[in-house]
Amino acid sequence: MKFRSPGQHKTFGSMDKHVRELADALGEELSLEEALEGTSGPFAAPLSLQGRTLSNRFAMHPMEGWDGTTDGRPSELTLRRWRAFGRSGAAMIWGGEAFAVTPEGRANPRQLALVNEENTKEDLALLIGAIREGRVESGLAPKDAFIGLQMTHSGRHARPHGTPQPIIAAHATWLDEHTKVSADHPLIGDDELQALTRSYVHLAQLAQQAGFDFVDVKACHGYLIHELLGARSRPGPYGGNYAGRTRFLLETITAIQDACPGLGVGVRLCAGDVFPHRVDPDGGPGVPLDATPHLPLNHGWGMDLQHPSQTNSAEPEQLTRDLVDRGVCLINVTLGSPYSCPHLQRPARNPPIDGYPPPEDPLLSVLRQVLMTRRIKAACPGAIVVGTGYTYLQEWFPHLAQAELRRGAVDLVGLGRMVLSYPEMPLDLLANRDIQQSRICRTFSDCTNGPRQGLVSGCFPLDSHYRQSEDGKRLRLLKGERTADHPRKP
Ligand SMILES: Cc1cc2nc3c(=O)[nH]c(=O)nc-3n(C[C@H](O)[C@H](O)[C@H](O)COP(=O)(O)O)c2cc1C
Ligand code: SF4
Repeated sequence: MKFRSPGQHKTFGSMDKHVRELADALGEELSLEEALEGTSGPFAAPLSLQGRTLSNRFAMHPMEGWDGTTDGRPSELTLRRWRAFGRSGAAMIWGGEAFAVTPEGRANPRQLALVNEENTKEDLALLIGAIREGRVESGLAPKDAFIGLQMTHSGRHARPHGTPQPIIAAHATWLDEHTKVSADHPLIGDDELQALTRSYVHLAQLAQQAGFDFVDVKACHGYLIHELLGARSRPGPYGGNYAGRTRFLLETITAIQDACPGLGVGVRLCAGDVFPHRVDPDGGPGVPLDATPHLPLNHGWGMDLQHPSQTNSAEPEQLTRDLVDRGVCLINVTLGSPYSCPHLQRPARNPPIDGYPPPEDPLLSVLRQVLMTRRIKAACPGAIVVGTGYTYLQEWFPHLAQAELRRGAVDLVGLGRMVLSYPEMPLDLLANRDIQQSRICRTFSDCTNGPRQGLVSGCFPLDSHYRQSEDGKRLRLLKGERTADHPRKP
């Protein structure tokens, strides 16, 4: 199935029509704004937060580069990326990238991690310094960005030495099968979870000392806390009903708040999920696993347990309200998981080489993210909500983002891949400058392909540093071989 990519729409009217038609199919109203109002419009509207005033409505999403050292420290490539985040001029840097709270919680051997307190202290100062340097390169005040650190534990997807070493919170036949975890794999113990809370607190303290404004307790993308949120079959205090499944997240947040007064806390939250998809051996669109033998599901978060091809945001909405009641007002809305439904989590024109062609128009997946963000904001107006999924819209992203900001459906527009190819796009928009078409991310997925092939991540097609690098050459070779081995259907 071929879908018309946003970049192929040559007129505003044609793109707007595409968006309206898909929104209509979802029973919602969505449309673009034609005129962009950089200097004086919604992007430039100040936002008050924790006694600070953010000067614009752009947030940089966390973007890992698989390029740290094997003892969890940033490399020059890591710092180069953080400088680019700073150069963007975005008022909020949400997380930088996933930083593991323990060495065994890493998703890959080159993920940043708290291995040694002294090193981490030094590294966090370097990372925040890189953002400030980037801002100076763009002629901005170094300290004006609101900067967070994303704290993670990879749980079921832990690969601290390159091979799977899953740390799981609950069993579910479908999930175990999909992630190749045996049915007798031990669950992380309640006491181990409590020790983990202390690791989150430790990293949060170091972040605060280094000058971070907030920490993100990551609860999405299939990692440990996301899994705990869905752990209906887990016995004991950290599973079962809603109170049990959210206990670890809430206890950890309270412990951070107690230990780090003045430090903001945010949550990158999975607000909706669907049943895993698999590759069709004939090269067709991704196929959802057959849920029938597992119904109703005994595991899941943000998913309709009777009809798991559909999201159900009732619990994520409730959790957002509970978080805000606890003083956690920063919510970054995301859907799905890169491991089980990448088409929803990271809509792309070209799927990753180990992925599948999208089972629906990727634009529809973007609209699902935008509409879910609306729902979360409407359910909890006190939350400062960051929206996700805009990069696939390419040159049209500001036209939808401006409309959503204006209607108060989102507070900050989060950008992921676009920042890898064109970090200065927010600044250009804010200054009413022409958009540099040649730098727009076309969602080719090479920043995902790189790490899937054991290489670093970066914008291989559009950033000459990566294009000319040894990893860039290897990736081109690997892609060529892969396409020859497994030709896709036209
Ligand atoms: C190479 C790459 C690395 C990513 N690393 C992280 C990460 O460390 N933490 C996280 O929460 N999301 C991560 N994401 C997801 C992005 O933050 C974002 O949610 C996703 O790319 C969709 O936003 P976009 O359409 O603007 O790219 C990553 C995505 C990519 C492509
Ligand atoms: S490799 Fe570059 S163009 Fe491709 S998806 Fe990533 S950022 Fe976008």
